[in-house]
Amino acid sequence: MKIISNIQDLRDQLRGQNRAVFVPTMGNLHEGHLSLMRLARQHGDPVIASIFVNRLQFGPNEDFDKYPRTFEADVEKLEKEGVYVLFAPTEKDLYPEPQEYRVEPPQNLGKILEGEFRPGFFQGVCTVVLKLFSCVQPKVAVFGKKDYQQLMVIRQMCRQLALPVDIVPAETVRAEDGLALSSRNGYLSVEERAEAVQLIQTLKEVQDKVLQGKLTAADISKIEQEACAKLSSRGWLPDYISVRKRKDLLSANDVELSANEQLVVLAAAKLGKTRLIDNLEI
Ligand code: PAJ
Repeated sequence: MKIISNIQDLRDQLRGQNRAVFVPTMGNLHEGHLSLMRLARQHGDPVIASIFVNRLQFGPNEDFDKYPRTFEADVEKLEKEGVYVLFAPTEKDLYPEPQEYRVEPPQNLGKILEGEFRPGFFQGVCTVVLKLFSCVQPKVAVFGKKDYQQLMVIRQMCRQLALPVDIVPAETVRAEDGLALSSRNGYLSVEERAEAVQLIQTLKEVQDKVLQGKLTAADISKIEQEACAKLSSRGWLPDYISVRKRKDLLSANDVELSANEQLVVLAAAKLGKTRLIDNLEI
């Protein structure tokens, strides 16, 4: 595996490749990330990974400085997955001058859910992903459903900007007890780690209730409130637990619900100092 940090070196290395599959990451790789590398291999060749902790997508009070950086262990894992090039730019490589041109996602998708609680987050994600796409010029890129809204934002960006990149979704990889793997799980204490499973448990309870019968939008709203109340009573600070339409992440109205609109329930909640997100397709 070649490790490249400079954009021009990357272009030289990848010249003539027209089937490259790209998996962008922020490192601290776990089985979830590695499953993306394996899926990538099924969609083209060669597989290009990136590791870059993107300052633009972190808020001023978020964990940019303490985000786990485990470069050597990450390299070892990627070697084993047969990754051809690891693009690991420094901040100077990717942002040699202030990144003033940015991609602003639209209100309806970019400012709801994660976008509401993390202002600027999707602008930072879109800007770095577009720039990484411009460096790597992949045919295909793989994104995890763990970050469900991110996947949809990236898809919409590619569509609206006519980027010649197919976006392939990957299923969420979970620990044995059901907790979605995440680099941020490392922040949890032993007690918090045991409690963390309640997030997916709660989403499953919401899923069960929503599947039980013909529901109105008001019923759904009550189910969401109960789910938040349950987590709060266990010491969590929920940002949202919300049942949305899969196609646009807006809430379903009564007509759509009775027409069996496809749904997904998404959640973000803080456990101690750690903010966790998860989702479940219903
Ligand atoms: P990061 O959190 O490192 O995630 C990189 C990719 O791995 C994303 O597509 C994410 O959805 C996926 N992923 C994370 N946990 C997963 C799990 N348990 N199962 C399956 N896939 C999982 O997401 C980012 O980085 C950044 O926002 C990035 C897109 C790299 C832009 O900076």
